[in-house]
Amino acid sequence: MKISPNDPCWCGSGRKYKKCHMAQDEKVRMYRDLGKLVPPNKLLKTPEQIEGIKRSARINMACLDAVAEVIKAGMSTQDIDDIIYEVTTRAGAIPAPLDYEGFPKSVCTSINDEVCHGIPDPDIILKDGDIINVDVSTILDGYFSDSSRMFLIGDVSEEKRRLVEVTKECVEQGLKAVKPYGFLGDVGAAVNAYAKAHGYSVVREIGGHGIGLEFHEDPWVSFVSDPGTGMLLVPGLTFTIEPMVNMGRPEIYCDEDNGWTIYTQDGRPSAQWEILVTVTEEGCEVLCW
Ligand code: MF3
Ligand code: CO
Repeated sequence: MKISPNDPCWCGSGRKYKKCHMAQDEKVRMYRDLGKLVPPNKLLKTPEQIEGIKRSARINMACLDAVAEVIKAGMSTQDIDDIIYEVTTRAGAIPAPLDYEGFPKSVCTSINDEVCHGIPDPDIILKDGDIINVDVSTILDGYFSDSSRMFLIGDVSEEKRRLVEVTKECVEQGLKAVKPYGFLGDVGAAVNAYAKAHGYSVVREIGGHGIGLEFHEDPWVSFVSDPGTGMLLVPGLTFTIEPMVNMGRPEIYCDEDNGWTIYTQDGRPSAQWEILVTVTEEGCEVLCW
């Protein structure tokens, strides 16, 4: 359906199309004509949708803050799950992982050589020297948010501390590459280059994702991509930066019994941080961290 310059804009701003997204659409069309992969407008969040995602994100971040206050050796990963469920539901929201494609718990908890998608369990007890990723995702009024942090349990070796720190810096490097009319591949390239420069490797098979109206939307986000490749970054495009960085080799495998938990093949530690970002006219904005 073609929209005329004087029609209301597709974004729901109430402004005329010619005063709103018309110039942007023309610019995007130019990139598409050059053979670039461009996002369909349905992936571009409106200001109202961004506000909804931010409300969801506030609860998501409150969950991680609540975990940060109490996490310590001797706790089980089920204890973490209980906190997430409690904080989320008290705020009137839903933990997005719960029953997502059969996932049995409210949060992912991944320790040491677990790369991601660890399942909370009363029998998994945090030990001194562990590193753990707590990956929280929230649905509020139909809006999804998603972020994860690493926690150090007690006295953690210098080697593992460094991995956790550099992985966070990888996310910051990726974030710096988020610019309007750049490419998604720039983000993964920045992450991968930084990890490699520190002697680490980045998981190839699992990446980030678009998010907002669904848990996992397009685009899929690789963290080992090449600059100038992948989807054009258009204002409103909203996605996660969540590289999994391995101390050793990048290869992974999936737990055959539970069908979820991903481990490093070489048994060495892996770290991950996740933020949720939206492209803006000026650069980008982090919505959840
Ligand atoms: N939070 C994970 C992500 O970042 C999603 C895990 S799916 C789940 O994409 F079911 F395991 F929660
Ligand atoms: Co995610």
